[in-house]
Amino acid sequence: MNQDEMKKLAAQAALEYLPDGGIIGIGTGSTVNHFIDALAPIKGRFEGAVSSSEASTERLKAIGIPVLDLNAVGDLEIYVDGADESNRHLQLIKGGGGALTREKIIAAASKRFVCIADETKLVDVLGTFPLPVEVIPMARSYVARELVKLGGAPVWRENFVTDNGNLILDVHNLEIMEPAHLETTINQIAGVVTVGLFAHRGADVLILGTPEGPKVIEP
Ligand code: 5RP
Repeated sequence: MNQDEMKKLAAQAALEYLPDGGIIGIGTGSTVNHFIDALAPIKGRFEGAVSSSEASTERLKAIGIPVLDLNAVGDLEIYVDGADESNRHLQLIKGGGGALTREKIIAAASKRFVCIADETKLVDVLGTFPLPVEVIPMARSYVARELVKLGGAPVWRENFVTDNGNLILDVHNLEIMEPAHLETTINQIAGVVTVGLFAHRGADVLILGTPEGPKVIEP
């Protein structure tokens, strides 16, 4: 079974976690794309979705699911999204697709965060995947220097602008032993919009696609 098939398996398994109706929070990425495809046959059950990116919005609209403004709907029962890495405490690195800010907002506004991924995303220590940090454009160099002081090696994701009009620094060489502490520290750097560490608000359920079937991890 290849990685994409494992992603699809996790996405299918997430259907069981959906409420009978209401509004669903939807993340971004190739695993979520499989989830959106899986929603198509049952789309009539839901009033609509809140989406974390223009890309997911387009895909949701294409299958006929109305996309709603988070400001208009209040807290969500459930948020389904992928991850670049997860540890066993379900603390995550996200933002490989650059949608980390809206993802963090929707995760914060949701009662349950169901994370879907293939089994390669489960790690002992976060940081092999470069940590995405969204920054205000004028702060790019300053934030990069501050990240170097923390031991990281930031690389500007060139030719990429987020849906919010900002830039991304991908921070290499981190071995993240205390994810919540690092999340707080990076959040405090002036010019940082969002760090792609989801430690204070990690996932509530992790569904991993594996060749043996979906594997569910709860902290
Ligand atoms: C986008 C994300 C994605 O969830 C993450 O990059 C995983 O993507 P994929 O499902 O394609 O492996 O955080 O900003």
